[in-house]
Amino acid sequence: MQVVVCTSSERQIRCRNSITVGRKMKKQSFNLFVVGSIGLLIVAIGLSFLFGLDNPVSWVLIAVVLLIPFIYRKVSEEKQLKWKESYSVGVKELDDDHKKLIELLNQFRVAYVYSTSESFEKQALNDLVSYTRYHFEKEEKLLEKTGYPQLDGHKEQHRAMIKQVEDFLEDYERRGHESLEGVAAYLEGWLINHINGTDKQYGPFLNEHNIV
Ligand SMILES: [Fe+2]
Repeated sequence: MQVVVCTSSERQIRCRNSITVGRKMKKQSFNLFVVGSIGLLIVAIGLSFLFGLDNPVSWVLIAVVLLIPFIYRKVSEEKQLKWKESYSVGVKELDDDHKKLIELLNQFRVAYVYSTSESFEKQALNDLVSYTRYHFEKEEKLLEKTGYPQLDGHKEQHRAMIKQVEDFLEDYERRGHESLEGVAAYLEGWLINHINGTDKQYGPFLNEHNIV
């Protein structure tokens, strides 16, 4: 999947909004295509039954309609962020946290994309934010305990991210569902960029201190 990264913090919201417009149009066109196709297939099924119940075309069309939700789900799964070995920072406990963060991010994306319910969406976002806070704290304590020399810069990145997600939450309280367009893509970009950049730098240092 494509990961979009907005590097300049002061342009984050603007960047997110520009990513949003393209994604929204693509999503709407795709949904329209799916709904239109199902409608046409149902009409075709109705017409083909006029030629008798034993008409094989009707049953083939019914099978196609039944397969659409599975295909739709498969396409959606393809868009999910997946853990790769190349994301490993060399410390199992922190890798496990990063895997959990990816899982929570995917849950949040599903809650948003399928517009399940406001409470589920809010819960998914809150779970993600809570776990991010918990993980940052754990990571910082470990780096502090071992005397990691780049701790201050690392902490700064964490603080900036926490501030950003707090802004997302605030915006969500004001505008609800609409405010979340592009948030998952932004968070994915940030997380992968952070793991592959800043986090990976502490791996060898922690390994030297027998933390693996
Ligand atoms: Fe970190």
